[in-house]
Amino acid sequence: MTPVPPFDRIPPFRPPYAPDDAALVADLLAETTLSPEARARVDATATRLIGKIRGETGGFGVEEFLREYALTTREGLALMVLAEALLRVPDAATADRLIEDKLAEAEFENHERVSDAWLVSASAWAMGLTARVFRPGETPTGILSGMVKRLGRPTIRTAARQAMRVMGHQFVLGQTIEAGLARAKSLEAKGWRHSYDMLGEGARTRADADAYLASYAMAIEKIGKAAGPGALPARPGISVKLSAIHPRYEAVNAEAVMRELVPDLLDLARKAKEYDLNFTVDAEEADRLELCLDVIAATLADPSLAGWSGFGLAIQAYQKRAVAEVDWIIGLAENLDRRMMVRLVKGAYWDTEIKRAQERGLDDFPLFTRKAATDLSYQACMRKLLAARPRIYPQFAGHNAVTMAEVCEIAGPKGAGDPGFEFQKLHGMGDALHRAVVEEDGWPCRIYAPCGGHRDLLAYLVRRLLENGANSSFVAKVGDASVPVEALLVTPEQELAGGTKPRHAHIPRPRDLFGTRLNSRGLEFGVAAEKEALMSALASHAADLYDAAPVIDGKGRPGTFRDLVAPADGETPVGRVSEATPELAGEAMARAAAGFPAWAATPAETRAAALERLADALEQNR
Ligand code: FAD
Ligand code: 2OP
Repeated sequence: MTPVPPFDRIPPFRPPYAPDDAALVADLLAETTLSPEARARVDATATRLIGKIRGETGGFGVEEFLREYALTTREGLALMVLAEALLRVPDAATADRLIEDKLAEAEFENHERVSDAWLVSASAWAMGLTARVFRPGETPTGILSGMVKRLGRPTIRTAARQAMRVMGHQFVLGQTIEAGLARAKSLEAKGWRHSYDMLGEGARTRADADAYLASYAMAIEKIGKAAGPGALPARPGISVKLSAIHPRYEAVNAEAVMRELVPDLLDLARKAKEYDLNFTVDAEEADRLELCLDVIAATLADPSLAGWSGFGLAIQAYQKRAVAEVDWIIGLAENLDRRMMVRLVKGAYWDTEIKRAQERGLDDFPLFTRKAATDLSYQACMRKLLAARPRIYPQFAGHNAVTMAEVCEIAGPKGAGDPGFEFQKLHGMGDALHRAVVEEDGWPCRIYAPCGGHRDLLAYLVRRLLENGANSSFVAKVGDASVPVEALLVTPEQELAGGTKPRHAHIPRPRDLFGTRLNSRGLEFGVAAEKEALMSALASHAADLYDAAPVIDGKGRPGTFRDLVAPADGETPVGRVSEATPELAGEAMARAAAGFPAWAATPAETRAAALERLADALEQNR
């Protein structure tokens, strides 16, 4: 393929996908450790901020919400499961029918009428929120049934509806962009910035992708028209998920993605440039990162975007490639002579990524398995981004007071005017913390503000609840008054020092998932080199023709052959097949019925070893 600009000038982003944690963590430790004086200043700032968070009363942030609805009780969780199901329902009449249906299921659960979707959502909630809440043998459905008996249906219905409304309101700024813009006005007036996000991701059809594309385009117009006269960075923006605007945004489809998605993204970016907005490409799954950066580079290289400093992307510190990505982005911006905005996050897809790497039987995970390693990586990226000002306008996103205190320390004293970076928070989270940082300390902050209907909220909401519910997360710990401040100030260096392992002791490598039996090795198409190696191996066998015929008792029994073509294109010859006849099948069955005496007499260890050799041969000759 001829290189697409700018790849004729800089190489595409292709660092090792899942390198070993130990070497990476050692490098990070060497790069990030703060002097004792600097650490003392960070602790003082963080302690003050934690005091603000803990001192906040009377609000209704997510922390209060979680307490109010007691997600750590079985009833609270069951109610949430019902509410989550309600989120997917577009209209009131259907919602009522769904509730009746769910309650009926609860009552009939002994008759095994529990639907799969119900169980899937129940397990998502249970996993993310409190794996400990249910006792063995209990299910949300059963708990609901008990609640119905105690409280009656109308109460349950009202409670579930209210939970749903609260959840929607908590995390979504407005059901439409107009409503979101109106609700944002008072904060904008106080100097807060917004990055609006049109809910929706993972489009499955062209029609869905077109609809999301149109909604982004329309939102950009509305945001642009509503924006005041200021200049970037103090202007609003929009956040875009590439998975929303292409139905096959996947590494295996790279060529189509480059051909189809780049022009669409460029159109949106040009619209954002017209209004001088901040335009951020959200970070999604690890296997899309190489492709994502190819798309970004090809888009940004377009001459029509020259002179605009609003284009940006999110970088996830939990990825082992994060530091390399920061270096690459700085190189790209310099190479194209663009100024860029870069949002640094820790990453919201951790659970999914772990599961995927296990499913794929990868040699290792593309992300860290210890939170302290992610925190270190965040700090290393933070330093690089701050040092790259003004080429890069860093945007530090998150709700961890210690991380924010580190930013303030590393950025240096705050002079007059814009400090050359901003903080970012999610709508509905971290209110007290960011109020202190913005309204008292005077740092700029942008709010990520999702807009859209409840129908598109689900995936986003599950990520927020996982984040709030995880016992390792700062927001959960700071909300728990029994956790002393000193425990919140423990540094990643302390956590990883003294022989503590840089990887999680209870998360085996994907290949070792099943203990003594090796997990089968999969391919990671998100690594272009791996995909290319497979394609060239395929190409090297392209001219091979194979004969396939029945085998009985180790002996080939070919009959009449017919030619075969590859099902992928319907024309490339792949060989010939001789089908079994009814007679041959009968013979094979008769042999099987008589047993295979030689195999049966072989010791179990030998048979097991033969199966393992077969498995290895299959992997090696895939
Ligand atoms: P902390 O509690 O300090 O960190 C929690 C994070 O640590 C987890 O989310 C995870 O990333 C990491 N972690 C937890 N356990 C482990 C472990 N065992 N091993 C390794 N790492 C671990 N996320 C995206 O993915 N893409 C985006 O585009 C994106 N945009 C965002 C925009 C804004 C404005 C904000 C505020 C957040 C955004 N996020 C995005 C979500 C963000 O990744 C999470 O909010 C963030 O990870 C929470 O970090 P924290 O510093 O607030 O909390
Ligand atoms: C998410 O959608 C905020 O982009 C982040 O979870």
